[in-house]
Amino acid sequence: MSTHIGARAGDIAPLVLMPGDPLRAKWIAETFLEDARLYTEVRGMYGFTGTWQGHPVSVQGSGMGQPSLAIYVNELFREYDVQSIIRVGTCGGMSPKVAIRDVVIASGACTDSSMNRIAFEGLDYAPVADFSLLQAAYSAAAGRSGVHVGLIYSSDSFYPARPELSARMVQYGVLAVEMEASALYTLAAKHARRALAICTVSDHLDTGEETTSHEREQTFGDMVEIALAAGTATA
Ligand code: HPA
Repeated sequence: MSTHIGARAGDIAPLVLMPGDPLRAKWIAETFLEDARLYTEVRGMYGFTGTWQGHPVSVQGSGMGQPSLAIYVNELFREYDVQSIIRVGTCGGMSPKVAIRDVVIASGACTDSSMNRIAFEGLDYAPVADFSLLQAAYSAAAGRSGVHVGLIYSSDSFYPARPELSARMVQYGVLAVEMEASALYTLAAKHARRALAICTVSDHLDTGEETTSHEREQTFGDMVEIALAAGTATA
């Protein structure tokens, strides 16, 4: 048992899909995995292990924001020998290049978080995706429309104090905002493991458009399939 995950060594697969919402973790396990078994419900942050097309796969909620995600990711890498983590989440579209329901595969993650500023003593580290997972996800998404590879912005604020800064991020190529990928990529690099973040655009900051809950479930399901195919192809 680790501090925040109530599982024994061996209960968690080398490949973990990681949604922010623990109820999404439950939905993924019930919808996509065979023989899914709950291994933790500490703090209601569910984790399940099952199989997908014969491959062992776990799905673990991260909670919202980089500090919460970092707790689970640290423990998965340190205590459970997890090799690959694929975040499956939602993001807010920032760039006119992306539309709601599109999928953004994050090649790298900018951030306003102080976590890396403290860890790197003022130097700016560039958190990027694992290339083999990125390539496998892009291949798995071939033929689907509305799939983008590019930069996302992992913000600490869902309700930002200075929303006008978004325009500058877009000028420099940022496609969408979410709240977790930068810490995930940094921790994967630290532990020499693989990580990728794939996000569906649930709302758009410019147009104010939002997806319905039915659309979110459909596009979220498409993204989970991309993540499962990518994670098991590179396992
Ligand atoms: N901001 C941050 N995270 C998000 C958003 C947003 O607008 N939409 C979905 N995840």
